Amino acid sequence: MMKDYKPVLGGAGATDYARYMRTDTLLSLQVSPREMRHRDELLFQIVHQSTELWLKLACNELRDAAVHLRQREMHNVLPLVGRSTLAVQLVTDQLEMLTHMTPWDFYLVRPALGNGSGFESPGWRAVNETGNELSAAFDHVIAADNIDLVRLYKEQRHSPLFSVSEALVGWDEKVALWRARHYKVAVRTIGINTVGTKGTPVDKLTLLLGHQFFPSLWRVRSTLFASSSNG
Ligand code: HEM
Repeated sequence: MMKDYKPVLGGAGATDYARYMRTDTLLSLQVSPREMRHRDELLFQIVHQSTELWLKLACNELRDAAVHLRQREMHNVLPLVGRSTLAVQLVTDQLEMLTHMTPWDFYLVRPALGNGSGFESPGWRAVNETGNELSAAFDHVIAADNIDLVRLYKEQRHSPLFSVSEALVGWDEKVALWRARHYKVAVRTIGINTVGTKGTPVDKLTLLLGHQFFPSLWRVRSTLFASSSNG
């Protein structure tokens, strides 16, 4: 007898794929050809919308990582931080798509954004919040367990806490690399002194490049080298 592959799930959509993935709703969330002022609105919106989705995952993983870290469950922290780091890497890679839009085309797209600005990105706001949560969890563990980071880095490279520390540095670095790439893409598109939709000159974005979520893990590197007798 032939197996029946008709949809079995509830919800809207012609197939189970459409029903579970909610593709009808998802694909209706971009500007329609009728509403478009410029064809590159689709490119611009998809880069932003997919960034929000990947960052939703990145932050979900980071929130749980913070809970596991406080419980000293390092084996659970590592894979979650790894996923979050990869998500940030993916949104950095997809910034490349914006280099396929010319400055003048973006000039024509920009009125469609109103006063909307990246400062209002829920995904990037959540990255800041969850990054700070994870940072607080890390500082708590270091203080409560009386950990000497210099000793950890010199003598305990096989410990789970060392692996977690390096994963946190990797995550922090990927966020900074997104900022650096975003800055370059913004300058490439609108020029160096141009003011963004929230009144911030593009160049002010460089002030954010040095932000660190885990300053003690960056500092310990300097401490190790300051104590080196090799000059
Ligand atoms: C051609 C593309 C882009 C240009 C020209 C651009 C430009 C700018 C400018 C000028 C600012 C300063 C704030 C303002 O006045 O708006 C800014 C901030 C920001 N933008 Fe973009 N942007 C672009 C793409 C993106 C994308 C794809 C995202 C992803 C969500 C994004 C997220 C952000 C965030 C989060 C900020 C706040 C600063 C930070 O956290 O580093 N931008 N952008």
